[in-house]
Amino acid sequence: MTPGVKPLVAGNWKMNGTSAGLDQLAAMANYYTPELHKRLDMLVCVPATLLFRASETVKNGPIKTGGQDCHWEASGAHTGDISTAMISDAGGSAVIVGHSERRSDHGETDQVVNRKVTAALASGLMTIVCIGEIEEERKSGKTLDVLGSQLSGSIPENRGGGELVVAYEPVWAIGTGLTPTVEDVREAHSFVREKMVELIGNEGERTRLLYGGSVKPANAGSLLGIDNVDGALVGGASLKAEDFLGIAAAYRALV
Ligand code: PGA
Repeated sequence: MTPGVKPLVAGNWKMNGTSAGLDQLAAMANYYTPELHKRLDMLVCVPATLLFRASETVKNGPIKTGGQDCHWEASGAHTGDISTAMISDAGGSAVIVGHSERRSDHGETDQVVNRKVTAALASGLMTIVCIGEIEEERKSGKTLDVLGSQLSGSIPENRGGGELVVAYEPVWAIGTGLTPTVEDVREAHSFVREKMVELIGNEGERTRLLYGGSVKPANAGSLLGIDNVDGALVGGASLKAEDFLGIAAAYRALV
């Protein structure tokens, strides 16, 4: 944790969930009381098709909803894409940008991510920028170099009003059940913190830095306990209310 920074537990449903899955979101909303909200923020990023209904499901409560990607243009001939204004219009207040699955499935480069982050922040969305090394890079000792260059490339110089959040997600830990050691997470997050201060000045000292990759109720507490880990980006375990709430409960015990 970073002293004085409120943790954020963010879920990423990826390409999972139809309207039948909204009962899980309703269950999360039931548990996430205003008292808990004082201590931690909760966000669920759902598929675009579900965003409006998901936002209605948690309306007036403290759980926020968001999208998983956006285009950098406000509108136009971009078949299949959605704009930041469409996310807001559907009730979302956040967006994930540059997830490793977007980078690998859709060839997104740091340059593309940078444009998307610029657009998302300008439109006032909380913008979660994902970075992380692949297994080979970790094994050959290049992790910090990779994180440094992804951050330099992806974080724009001009940043609008939205909150910028960074998620460190080792690609080899996503959906595999593998996690880095506490020492490796500490080293990566401390490096990301320094780099953020270098890139954006004082704001970087309080930027929320999430860890992502196989976060579960059983390991959430030990991960949040690490310096500069201000929350989690959770994939698989965000699909079921019981698991996602288990992660929130592990945080609750610490904050
Ligand atoms: P996971 O995914 O929790 O299923 O490992 C994390 C992510 O990709 O954000």
